[in-house]
Amino acid sequence: MTPRLKIIAGNWKMYTTPTEGDKLADELITALAGIDPGNKRIVVMPPFLHIRSIAERFNGVKHASVGAQNCHFENEGAYTGEISAAMIKDAGAEYVIVGHSERRQYFHEDNALLYKKVSAALAHGLTPIYCCGETLVQRENGSYFEVISKQINEGLFDLMPDMINNVIVAYEPVWAIGTGKTASPEQAQEIHAFIRNLFAGQYGHEIADHVLILYGGSVKPNNAAELFGMKDIDGGLVGGASLNAADFAAIVHAA
Ligand code: PGA
Repeated sequence: MTPRLKIIAGNWKMYTTPTEGDKLADELITALAGIDPGNKRIVVMPPFLHIRSIAERFNGVKHASVGAQNCHFENEGAYTGEISAAMIKDAGAEYVIVGHSERRQYFHEDNALLYKKVSAALAHGLTPIYCCGETLVQRENGSYFEVISKQINEGLFDLMPDMINNVIVAYEPVWAIGTGKTASPEQAQEIHAFIRNLFAGQYGHEIADHVLILYGGSVKPNNAAELFGMKDIDGGLVGGASLNAADFAAIVHAA
């Protein structure tokens, strides 16, 4: 089997004004300049407003791309305040996060809706990064395998095999996001192997062996190498630490 790529994606969430975002992008380009990309890919995921300008800045930076944090499932229409996959693609994005736990929690996005968003992203040539993960209560009451299995099944598994090939999964335990609590490498590996196994059951081993599964939740320069060293962890979705160019570069370096 050819080794899988490592993806390090920075989710900026609702941080930085466009001016601050341009500055952070420039700092990142400088900080990443000395790093040998090898089989790594870097994805910067700023707020929608910044995509065009940051995509232009990263144009020509090999192995780096820009992504969005969400999209609507329709191409266009009377959906005041929404942004479509077609729009973010045209602005220069290549990836889009779908189903981040903050979207599930605060905007009530459910698996059925997320399936439509994943489909829209794929239809426009974007790579969706589909998030799953359990809450603290679900971790503690032992229902987390069931929760994750349902998120993956309902959000992804109606896709045809030629489509699922273009999907990236991110396992983000909700209790580890922004809390400074990281899943241990063993805890994360257990879930990543479980998710890969779900893919094998649905689509066979060939597809399961190739699907990229990122870990997210308090990834920092001091824990990245250990997490990314696990067999089924193909990189990370980084929140807080992606807002600091030196920390993000250190995490990329660790991959
Ligand atoms: P964090 O966020 O790294 O700040 O925990 C991760 C995420 O929400 O994607």
